[in-house]
Amino acid sequence: MPATCTIYQPTEGNLDTCAQLLRDGEVVGMPTETVYGLAGNALSEDSARKIFRVKGRPLIDPLIVHFADADAATAHIQMNTAVETLAAKFWPGPLTMVVNKQASIPDIVTAGLPSVAIRVPQHPVFRAVLQRLDFPLAAPSANPFGYVSPTLAEHVQNTLGTRIPAVLDGGACTFGLESTIVDLRDPKQPAILRHGPITQEALSETLGCAVADRTLGSGDDKAQAAPGQLMQHYSPRAKVQLIAHGETFSARPSSSSVAIIYNSQPDNTAAHTYWLSEDGNADTIAHNLFELIQRLDQQGYTELHIELSAETGIGKAINDRLRRAAAK
Ligand code: TXA
Ligand code: MG
Repeated sequence: MPATCTIYQPTEGNLDTCAQLLRDGEVVGMPTETVYGLAGNALSEDSARKIFRVKGRPLIDPLIVHFADADAATAHIQMNTAVETLAAKFWPGPLTMVVNKQASIPDIVTAGLPSVAIRVPQHPVFRAVLQRLDFPLAAPSANPFGYVSPTLAEHVQNTLGTRIPAVLDGGACTFGLESTIVDLRDPKQPAILRHGPITQEALSETLGCAVADRTLGSGDDKAQAAPGQLMQHYSPRAKVQLIAHGETFSARPSSSSVAIIYNSQPDNTAAHTYWLSEDGNADTIAHNLFELIQRLDQQGYTELHIELSAETGIGKAINDRLRRAAAK
């Protein structure tokens, strides 16, 4: 078997080592507060190409560029007041903004688009690496294209370990779901392109105007404005089937290869029954979701029946990922 990558604890020395790998054009698995990212120099065409290759990602699916702070982004984008307002409120944090780019961002990073998706992450380990570098980091989620996103360093090692030199260990990701993406190319017409931890209501309240829902599945015919948002995504090997929110799986699991996953602990805890939180707390469900799916997938279950969340707050993002995991 080919050698697998090293998992580095985030000591000062190991942060220096990973920063040097990035300067040398390598890609490194790194924790963010949402999911683990596969990071590389966002200003280098070669590094960006390596990210696509390692992930097996089509070149039409643009990357998110991560900056140390909003100031660091200004040289590479066309700033507007909506970006400034949302940055002041939500950065560092799980919000990605799509804006028009400057020539310094290579075309390969944005899949040839004149816009770029940018974010200032909150995770102290990611921030410590950015502070050591004089370039921003492009980072998609660190999973093979189409698979469930990683929320532990081990997930990255298990799936991409033979293709990268290093993963930095930042523990379990707080949110456990990818950032919200909002299109702010026209600051007067903001639109959500992917649901995430920052809700449509919170964005709309902060901006003081309506924010359209242009996410996949919203029914909006401009929804493909976020290229790479595919209906089938986040898929484990096991077949995923959905259980309506608040309902109980009707049949008994027919065999030990079928697992049932509820949002909260059920009254009867039969074999092969799992739950994402004790009390149905949506943040806890989001935090645990990808980890449990990957664990049960590794254990060899071939069918996962998973309960949907209430369609409010972060529940919208949870259900978006579940529907895509279940899509054929
Ligand atoms: O939480 C996150 O956002 C994580 C962490 C690592 O930061 N990253 C992440 O990246 O989820 P990724 O590559 O899995 O998803 C990025 C998505 C693309 O698939 C695309 O839909 C959208 O961001 N995107 C990127 N650039 C865009 C652009 N210029 N216009 C519209 N959508 C864009
Ligand atoms: Mg992804």
